[in-house]
Amino acid sequence: MTAGGGASGAFITLEGGDGSGKSTQAAMLQAWLEGEGRTVMRTREPGGTPLGIEIRRLVQHTEGHVAPRAEALLYAADRAHHVATLVRPALERGEVVVQDRYLDSSVAYQGAGRELDGAQIRDLSLWATDGLLPTLTILLDIDPAVGRERMARRADAPYDRLEETGLEFAERVRAAYLRLAEAEPARFAVVDASGTPDEVHASVVSHVRAILDAQR
Ligand code: TYD
Repeated sequence: MTAGGGASGAFITLEGGDGSGKSTQAAMLQAWLEGEGRTVMRTREPGGTPLGIEIRRLVQHTEGHVAPRAEALLYAADRAHHVATLVRPALERGEVVVQDRYLDSSVAYQGAGRELDGAQIRDLSLWATDGLLPTLTILLDIDPAVGRERMARRADAPYDRLEETGLEFAERVRAAYLRLAEAEPARFAVVDASGTPDEVHASVVSHVRAILDAQR
């Protein structure tokens, strides 16, 4: 298995439940890294490529039920294409990839949330990506009830999907994320996401600075 990156590239993923502030933090982190003189590719799963946008539409907006194993395969297919066409090339160019969600989302949502086998889901993603693991994964940890309140206040809140899964699902996802972080402490940094965007950003930067300094 390869940890992310070519010579000086770094693969940083942001993970967390709905409403944990990942996209806000990804944008703030990109700006900070660029201020440090790094070239950044900011991307997301699902949907970082044209194929991914189609897959995202299929998995999230298809009327009715998508079978859990089909859902897992669709996210894995998106990931395979995204890594091969965007992420690996950027890392090989020495860029910093800042990515909203990666394989830990599948382990947490499809594994714990949909109650599939988490180890199999992880293996599926590792096969799909030819073993690409992030250099650093920031887990933005938030109480699901607080996350949902934040989402409900958003103008584009995907409200029906949230209601469909329920708070119990979100609690399983959160617990799974925390277990993943505990199992891989060298890759994960757990950040309390309940603070203001600036407070959370300061904490994110402290972890990112540490891995970039270690690469020098
Ligand atoms: P989206 O609206 O794209 O963004 P956000 O990350 O802001 O929630 O929703 C992504 C949804 O997709 C989210 O509910 C988690 C889910 N998801 C999975 O279930 N498995 C995965 O592997 C990925 C990448 C996402």
